[in-house]
This record gives sequence, structure tokens and C-alpha cells, in this order.
Amino acid sequence: MMAAQAAEIDRNGYTVIENYISQEELSLARAFIEEQAARHEGEYFAIHGIEALNGSIASAMALSVPFKDMLAELYRRQAGRDAAPTEQIFPVIRCLQGRSGLKQSHFYHFDATAVTALLPLFIPTEGEHCGDLIIFPNVRRVRFNALRNVIQKAVLHNSASQKLTAFAVRRGWLKPIRLKLEPGNLYLFSGYRSLHANDVCDPAMLRATVLFHFGNPHYESTVARFLLGANKRRAKLDHNGLRPVN
Ligand SMILES: [Fe+2]
Repeated sequence: MMAAQAAEIDRNGYTVIENYISQEELSLARAFIEEQAARHEGEYFAIHGIEALNGSIASAMALSVPFKDMLAELYRRQAGRDAAPTEQIFPVIRCLQGRSGLKQSHFYHFDATAVTALLPLFIPTEGEHCGDLIIFPNVRRVRFNALRNVIQKAVLHNSASQKLTAFAVRRGWLKPIRLKLEPGNLYLFSGYRSLHANDVCDPAMLRATVLFHFGNPHYESTVARFLLGANKRRAKLDHNGLRPVN
């Protein structure tokens, strides 16, 4: 069922399902964001997990069986094996606004999970910087060797290499995929295989997205858990490779 989409992710680095949610669902999701954004006084915030997102489209989708089946199939096609039966979709809402939102941009990372789905809710349409999604597609394969994963992440997840990547992208030396996001579309890519980040967003504008993470290739590795835990503590990352809320 997802064969064409999986092939497109392999070939182009991403695939998009247009108008994945209805206008009505989009309006409801935006109302949720606006309510949360007002509480955060115009500054950056992120909300992690099904419980914290209860009552929003993010948790409803994370709990949806057809949606999970879709991500599980993409995982199977990427990784060549089934995800753990206990795997759940992990949703995150990220809201870039204000000066603090600027610091969250060009923060290049790999996700801990193989499949990433991105649902934009608010995307600025004016100005030079609209918070485009930037992807270096499929720079590595899904590996089940936990140690190799840890080493790759240690090399690429330090602030020196992140700054260097950001600099090279701004200068135009590196030419990643740059996606102009459309609210209501669903963008699918392999967050595990692709180095990615979002572009800067005008501090006066609101950029809100829901991220869905699925399928940790290293779920069975206690070594990975231990080492990644230490690695993440050092890098001050949460388990999806995103900076935690301060
Ligand atoms: Fe990510």
C-alpha cells in the first residue's frame, strides 16, 4: 500500500500526502496551538507525548490505528523488519515564535526513530525566512548496530559540526532539500537516515508543526539505551534529538 511512498522517500528523500487533514481539522488544531501559544508569551515551546497533547489532533493521530499501520509499513520497508509490537507513535508539537525560536533553527540532527511524519499547522508565508524544512536525505542506512549509531551521532550531534553545517547551508556550499511546508499536508521522511533541521523563522511569525516519530531500530539494545542516554545528556537532547523545553 505504501510502496510508492516508500520508494519516493528512498529516491527523493521525502514524500508528501496533500491535504492529509480536512480544513475543519486544521482549524481545530490551530485553535489548540493558539491557546497554547498565548500561554507561552510569544516564545518557543514544544509539547511532548500523547498524554501532554491530550485533546489535540496530535494525540488523536498518534492513537489512530490506520495512521500507525501506515507508519509501521513505512518502517518495515525502510528497515527490512517489523517494528517492535510495543512501539507507539511519539507525537511532538513544536512552536517557533519570538527570539527564542531563532535558537531552535538550523539545529541539525538525526531522529532516534526511522519514520518521521511532519504535519504543519501554522507556516509563515511572508518574508525571507518561513521555517522551511531542510533535509540531507538518506545520508545513512538504518543500522541495527547500536554502537555504530552512537558513533555517528557523536560525530554529527556536537555543536561544532552543527554550526559548520548551518554555516555551509547559509553560504550555499551545501545544497540540501528545502521544503516549503503547506499546512494540512503530511510530509514523510526517514528522520533516522536523514540529517535535518528547520530554517530560521521570522520572530514575529508563528510556525507550528506536529511531528510523529515511529520505529526505533535500537529498541532491543540495552547498550544503545545506556550509551544513547549518556550521549543525549551530554548533548542536552530529548529522546527525539530535539532540544527539550527549558
Ligand atoms: Fe527530527
